[in-house]
Amino acid sequence: MALWPAKNILLPSGLSVGFRVAAEGDSDDLVRVFAGVVAEGDFTIITQSELSQTSAQELRRVQIFADSTSKLYLVAEVAGQVVGMGTASGGNHLRTAHVASLSLFVEKPFRGRRIGQNLLVELMSWAQSMAFEKLTLSVYQNNYGAIQLYHKMGFEIEAQVKKAVKVSEKRYEDIFSMVYWCDA
Ligand SMILES: CC(C)(COP(=O)(O)OP(=O)(O)OC[C@H]1O[C@@H](n2cnc3c(N)ncnc32)[C@H](O)[C@@H]1OP(=O)(O)O)[C@@H](O)C(=O)NCCC(=O)NCCS
Repeated sequence: MALWPAKNILLPSGLSVGFRVAAEGDSDDLVRVFAGVVAEGDFTIITQSELSQTSAQELRRVQIFADSTSKLYLVAEVAGQVVGMGTASGGNHLRTAHVASLSLFVEKPFRGRRIGQNLLVELMSWAQSMAFEKLTLSVYQNNYGAIQLYHKMGFEIEAQVKKAVKVSEKRYEDIFSMVYWCDA
């Protein structure tokens, strides 16, 4: 079972934000937050027309994370409402168990207040406590804000995957694979 202590942090903007492990009762909120980010069109591989994630499926996902010792699902909460989420998932095989892959989403109206950074700090602290050696994430090459955040937190670009995403008939996007070496 993935355990991580809940925290309340007063951000520089004066906003009080709770950071805690996702609970089964969060599934509607999590679907809403993710659907909002997908609808923006710029940040995810999945498109709105492919989005079929139901609350029941998200509930199952929350349960899978909760039951796993090598996965962590965190939410950021403002006044009882989930406004962001972050996940860390350890590799599923003996030979990849030293690597955790991360994801991070904050609802648009709540961006730029260090919620993403604090979610990432919590995920990285958990990963270090679990003795992961390598943290990875994938980000669109043009997602400047996210890349800035990852650089700020010590991630570096490990590889550029050319034309990884075909956005439209004539437009492709590259993906950066970014890495953080724990204990480096
Ligand atoms: C990427 C994301 C999670 C960042 O969360 P956030 O709460 O907006 O970011 P924070 O306020 O914590 O930013 C912390 C630092 O990251 C950098 N940063 C974040 N957004 C930035 C932007 N738009 N432009 C420049 N720098 C940015 C800054 O260095 C900032 O530090 P500062 O406060 O000292 O300037 C959020 O913008 C988001 O959900 N975006 C859409 C989904 C997405 O792109 N997810 C990541 C996919 S890999």
